[in-house]
Amino acid sequence: MLDQTPNAALADLPDFARRRTFAIISHPDAGKTTLTEKLLLASGAIRMAGHVKARGERRRTRSDWMEIEQQRGISVTSSVMTFERDGIVFNLLDTPGHSDFSEDTYRTLSAVDAAVMVIDAAKGIESQTRKLFEVCRLRDIPIFTFVNKVDRESLDPIALMDEVSSTLALDLTPLTWPIGMGVDFRGLIDIANKKALLATERGGPLVREVPFETPEDLIDLEGVEERIINEAVESLTLALGVLPPFELASFREGHLSPVYFGSALKEAGVAELLFGLGSVGPSPLPRSAAGDRTVEPAEDLVSGFVFKVQANMDPNHRDRVAFVRLCSGRFKRGMKLFNPREKRQMAIANPIFFFAQERETVDEAVAGDIIGIPNHGMLRVGDTLSEGETIKFEGLPDFAPEILRRVLLSDPMKAKQLQKALQDMAEEGVVQVIKPVSDPSPIVGVVGTLQLDVLAARLEKEYGVPIRYETVSFVTARWIVGERAEVDRFMEANRSSTARDRDEAPVYLARSQWVLDRAIEEWPKLKFVAVKERG
Ligand code: G4P
Repeated sequence: MLDQTPNAALADLPDFARRRTFAIISHPDAGKTTLTEKLLLASGAIRMAGHVKARGERRRTRSDWMEIEQQRGISVTSSVMTFERDGIVFNLLDTPGHSDFSEDTYRTLSAVDAAVMVIDAAKGIESQTRKLFEVCRLRDIPIFTFVNKVDRESLDPIALMDEVSSTLALDLTPLTWPIGMGVDFRGLIDIANKKALLATERGGPLVREVPFETPEDLIDLEGVEERIINEAVESLTLALGVLPPFELASFREGHLSPVYFGSALKEAGVAELLFGLGSVGPSPLPRSAAGDRTVEPAEDLVSGFVFKVQANMDPNHRDRVAFVRLCSGRFKRGMKLFNPREKRQMAIANPIFFFAQERETVDEAVAGDIIGIPNHGMLRVGDTLSEGETIKFEGLPDFAPEILRRVLLSDPMKAKQLQKALQDMAEEGVVQVIKPVSDPSPIVGVVGTLQLDVLAARLEKEYGVPIRYETVSFVTARWIVGERAEVDRFMEANRSSTARDRDEAPVYLARSQWVLDRAIEEWPKLKFVAVKERG
């Protein structure tokens, strides 16, 4: 069912067609970190388990603001890992796991072509998984499902698939199936490759392979308790009878998700997932841009977009790294690329590639690859880089913040530093900065409260600017869209509740939903929008 393209045939493909750029989405604790580590292990990119976390620890000590991550035990930054297996280059983009960071997460997901949804077998779909899935669905990107922790007490596999399928309105088809779960876990049935994968000793790695023609051949399989194998065969037969078969087109359109049962911790099902990613996972997809332009990965000229900017990765250097997803062409180190927003060329002298082991300097990269570009603030989230053409990729929006706070300085002499620091943080996408028309103290807007803590910690550590927050009487913000004269009239009539964002776009600060509804009614020529494409 799943044919890995033979290596000889792979060599004939253009480089971009051998790229798989994906993210792992999950609820915290479902096993994303463990799965990441085991994927790297299965690809041969790392040799030791524990590497991903160890690397995380090292990175943390390099950047003080990440103390918050340590204190709270959560991951608030995205990183990129590139690894290779059987001639295929995998670019894994790590999405922040915490629900507070939906904006950053949205943008990261805008840069991938597929996602792996990790589900805890005992819990089924949890809130964060569902939210992230909905983001993926906006672009109909193909989703692999990994049902993790089958070595623990779990829900029945059929009931679990039923729940996932009905909650997400998504068709599912199993590609691996557990032989027992929890203390009964003995191995997996690899449906695609028609073999049972078993341990030679209880709890050990699944190194024993038993081929089969139909699952019934596995009944009374030697070395596994009769009750366990027979139950597994029975439930699998039932599932295959009612679920649709794997169909590439339906998967690629985001309607059908192949399901892998497994245990990241025990490395069960991970190699099968990696194989699936390589064989049926999509290579870089065409990207739509403003003005009905679709950029194909096979186009000769380089294009890409910035989906993330991270400042102060190294506290000794004040530069930032812009993460760029390449969409077409062949990028070479030293190339000059055009930034249409700044109407400027910039020479990309020291691009960074994020290999599993260490950051390395890249010489070449193609569509699907992510490069890091160190810069002094020229690049913003949403910026396009190209070999001359003015392209504006779509799908990197700003979201109207749901939490608003006034920022007060502990030391009034530091107003200038605060302004600069907030500008940086806004460009990085940590917060949105809103300048009220009638008040000099800026308001920051966030989607989740954790961002407020991150902001305060970073302003103090990185810029030496301690701040306090004050609550404001506004509950939500909306961008005001309409003819200039009408917008000006509205702003004049509502001076105490209007503001400008970092791009000077007009913003309405509403004191309640009712007030917002009334404004919408009374100003029919204006639109009050909650989502704004990055300008
Ligand atoms: P996250 O990144 O999605 O938040 O999850 P993470 O991988 O950190 O896993 C959360 C916990 O679940 C960890 O335990 C991890 O060892 C455990 N885990 C992950 N995959 C499996 C699995 O397949 N089977 C079992 N039984 N456990 C699994 P922890 O005790 O919180 O952390 P640790 O001390 O083990 O690192």
